Amino acid sequence: MKSLRMHAIAAAAVLLTLPALAQVSDYHDIKTTPLHQIQQPQPKRVQLANGMVIFLMEDHELPLIGGGARIRGGGRDVPADKSGLAGLLGSAWRTGGTESNQLALLLAREAHHGAHGGVRLVHGANAHHSLHRAAWLLGLPDPVVVPAPAGTMDPAALDEALTKLCGPLIVAATAGTTDAGLIDPLPEIADLCATHGARLHIDAAYGGGLLFSDRHRHKLDGLQRADTITLDLHKLGWQPVAAGLLAVKNPDDLAVLQHHADYLNADDDTEAGLPDLLGRSLRTTRRPDILKIAVTLKTLGREGLGALVDQVCARAAEFADLIATHPGFELYDRPTISTVLFRPTEATDDAVAAVRRTLLHQGRAVLGRATLDGRRWLKATLPTPTPGPTTWPPS
Ligand SMILES: Cc1ncc(COP(=O)(O)O)c(C=O)c1O
Repeated sequence: MKSLRMHAIAAAAVLLTLPALAQVSDYHDIKTTPLHQIQQPQPKRVQLANGMVIFLMEDHELPLIGGGARIRGGGRDVPADKSGLAGLLGSAWRTGGTESNQLALLLAREAHHGAHGGVRLVHGANAHHSLHRAAWLLGLPDPVVVPAPAGTMDPAALDEALTKLCGPLIVAATAGTTDAGLIDPLPEIADLCATHGARLHIDAAYGGGLLFSDRHRHKLDGLQRADTITLDLHKLGWQPVAAGLLAVKNPDDLAVLQHHADYLNADDDTEAGLPDLLGRSLRTTRRPDILKIAVTLKTLGREGLGALVDQVCARAAEFADLIATHPGFELYDRPTISTVLFRPTEATDDAVAAVRRTLLHQGRAVLGRATLDGRRWLKATLPTPTPGPTTWPPS
């Protein structure tokens, strides 16, 4: 009986130390500090994220969480407002771009809670399908789709739509379209939202990574004016999935996520100073997912990630040059980010689709496909910074 009790106590001790392990602010401590000596860190900026971000980032805030926060890593130290997101005060950890878009619409719906008919989504024809789906999932009115004739949202058409519509509106712009990697005219869209009193969400799932780069960040001018921003670091951030984030300008918007579960955030625990993490996410046990981003930022820093972004953009530009000068191929356009659309000259749309499948089946290339300007294109999204033109085609 006594030994059973001893076992139970030992097991409880192990269980009790696990959260301390998970919350330690510096992963190096795990190797060097006996578990019983690890101090429970106090959250520095509890309003900023949904959980682990706060603890892991105690000395190493994410670049998305502006307001004077600094990014540190790889021995470098860069003011966060260089990221262009200095005005965004909150961020919430998500599984990916899809879920970040959903949460953005949920926060918009709740911000206009009680408004007749609910908030209405207005998005470009170039927007990611997850936005349309999120509106359906959240019971919002059918979205209004604004034409995107050249692959980006047409501001004149947006102005017209916003002028005609009444009731609360949320405009979703895209920074890095799924098909061509194009960026909507963000400053003009932000101006129109301000004029018409519409909320602005920017889906920067793909293009958001440009913030790391001194050379390419300017392409995202206007991003900082959004109310919410979707970021997805499994794209231009080199993270394994899941690596989505939702940056939120007004931390009060996150208050609707407040939730009470006695086993996690009992009132007396919260009053005694234990962190209340539940209200910053719709998720419960995914907090350790942030570890990989913390490690990457700490190892490479913003500048290191920026160098990778520069490299993939340069590789994409070189690849586009090769396509443009090759008589057997047609290039859609010079890449804005790292997506190159091309097709064999004179090929039919069906032939383009068949080429893609053949390359896939033969294990020679994984290409995407996109339909733009009424024609089908092969899509090369260059995710890997290392290979240069000399390694194409692989021997
Ligand atoms: C612009 C954009 N938004 C959202 C998503 C969805 O991201 P995820 O697949 O991580 O849910 C994608 C995915 O490609 C995307 O390109």
